Amino acid sequence: MHIKNNIFFILLIAFAACQNNSTMNNTSNTDSTKNDADTTTQLIPSAKDFQSTIDEKQTDLYVLKNGNMQVAITNYGARIVSIIVPDKNGNPTDVSVGYDAVKPYSEGGDTYFGAIVGRYGNRIAKGKFKLDEKEYTLATNNAPNHLHGGNKGFSRVVWDAQPQNDSTLILTYLSKDGEEGYPGNLTSKVIYTVLSNNKLKIDYEATTDKNTVLNLTNHTYFNLNGQGSETILNHAVMINADRYTPVDSTLIPTGKFEAVKGTPLDFRTPTAIGIRVNDTSNQQVKFGHGYDHNFVLNTKGNLNEKAAEVISDQSGIVMDVYTKEPGLQFYVGNFMNGSHTIKGGKKDDYRTAFCMETQHYPDSPNQPNFPTTELKPGQQYQTTTIYAFTVNR
Ligand code: GLA
Repeated sequence: MHIKNNIFFILLIAFAACQNNSTMNNTSNTDSTKNDADTTTQLIPSAKDFQSTIDEKQTDLYVLKNGNMQVAITNYGARIVSIIVPDKNGNPTDVSVGYDAVKPYSEGGDTYFGAIVGRYGNRIAKGKFKLDEKEYTLATNNAPNHLHGGNKGFSRVVWDAQPQNDSTLILTYLSKDGEEGYPGNLTSKVIYTVLSNNKLKIDYEATTDKNTVLNLTNHTYFNLNGQGSETILNHAVMINADRYTPVDSTLIPTGKFEAVKGTPLDFRTPTAIGIRVNDTSNQQVKFGHGYDHNFVLNTKGNLNEKAAEVISDQSGIVMDVYTKEPGLQFYVGNFMNGSHTIKGGKKDDYRTAFCMETQHYPDSPNQPNFPTTELKPGQQYQTTTIYAFTVNR
């Protein structure tokens, strides 16, 4: 049965490809054919709805392909708009929450859907940190703390896009000295590659001309049953972490490391999210309004060892996470409230998606026990995360 559907899926892709004679879809050149292809799959938003001018720069939609997988990315915030992989029946399924045009990303309330967040992904306590004896003050956009790089950060700026081929897109952004209060001219590069066997690789690189701090991550919201489906509470999650960094009521780490053993944060064996997510007898779950915590990965930067695994309850889609980062913020959409209209006219209802933000630990610039997030001139920042999709039949 699934073989038949796989063949159907391949034919569908082939048909889409025939409709669109440009394989690397820097879609500005291929509008009409591209739109036909999009109608065929009915999953990738129309490129023309991403073609705009923001901060005097052009925005667009880029579609990467390899085999059965397609990933749509806009250079507005270097955001992943769609991730399309086959489900257990071979049906193309969009597992990433997003909007179907650039406007709601640039004008809507910020949810960080699919975005690259920086300079500092996650929180910095009270928006202050010291570097080389100097104190820096940042926006406290998540009062009383700084979150995800500030008011615009890297998720609300236009990146320069350089399509490489069918499956690779390079995005670069120069953040000027003092932007959002951070020191140093920082050039960041994000390379999205769709590898064979339904894997999405994200490489991050950066250099600076002054000492600075940096923690880049991607903030995709996943629903492995398809974005806009019901809650993710029946997804089973494994996180390869014996410890996590407990937080205070404002989600700033206390600086301690605690064992997950015996707590609702023990995901060492696959466990449905919903089983313990409301266990507010645990203070950490209470503070996070559910899961919104940084796990200390046992993988210690080894990209070949699995950091996390998520198993859907309906589509059969399984996602594995591999990363060079030491931590993973597991967030389950506790602040989603149905106030945004996402692709296909769906709503971003409460807990209808989860995030696995691979990262350094929150508030590291103020936490001497945590691995450093400093970047100095002459150093090359480099990190990689892979989201790998398979199916359980
Ligand atoms: C991160 C944070 C959450 C929340 C989301 C965005 O995952 O840890 O607390 O701010 O981003 O809503």
